[in-house]
Amino acid sequence: MVEIAPSILSADFTRLGEQIAAVEAGGAAYIHVDVMDGHFVPNLTIGPFIVDWVRQATHLPIDAHLMIENPDNFIAAFAKAGASMISVHPEATYHLHRTIGFIRQAGCKAGVVLNPATPLAMIEEVITDVDYVLLMSVNPGFGGQKFISSSLNKLRRLRSLIQISGSRARIEIDGGIGVENAAAVVAAGAEILVAGSAIFGKPDPAEAARQLLGAASAQAGVKTLA
Ligand code: DX5
Ligand code: ZN
Repeated sequence: MVEIAPSILSADFTRLGEQIAAVEAGGAAYIHVDVMDGHFVPNLTIGPFIVDWVRQATHLPIDAHLMIENPDNFIAAFAKAGASMISVHPEATYHLHRTIGFIRQAGCKAGVVLNPATPLAMIEEVITDVDYVLLMSVNPGFGGQKFISSSLNKLRRLRSLIQISGSRARIEIDGGIGVENAAAVVAAGAEILVAGSAIFGKPDPAEAARQLLGAASAQAGVKTLA
């Protein structure tokens, strides 16, 4: 099954509730929240305070992508604020296995995130401990960047790593995703598509979400038939 996770990074924050309702109507499965600390990535964004407001605006699960150093210090706060899924970058924590345990203890699904230059080997030892792997197809920090095409090959290699290891982890892709490459990333193994500017950068986010889900699902249908 293919799902979409609109990233509110590109939303109009003067009417965030309305924008979330629009993508919910357009078929979003999750609301993706990009948390940046100005250290791990060169940008500052959202803390637990905003997640709490997002929680009140939707029944969809909140997918918190932590681009922060020392994520252990904030996992409980994001879980308390309403996150259902929390992902961390391996470079940002000394003891990734322990961090994954903290996410689980907080009652959330646990994910690990790979930057474009981070090899799959970084997560090999924890691949059976996580619920999902988030593959970055741009360097994290900003919305609206161009999809890095070598991510397709990495998606395929990640899919085989997951299959070979017997892991049940799902594959999420994030960065530069839109209707033009949705089919290609799904064919390569992506199951959850994050999209910011391709949804909230459009005049009608509900329709943009519908179109993205349509393009992704059409490809998922092809795979089911094959
Ligand atoms: C980038 C974030 C992404 C971002 C994607 O650091 O992790 O989630 O919002 O934005 P687009 O879809 O515009 O590339
Ligand atoms: Zn993200």
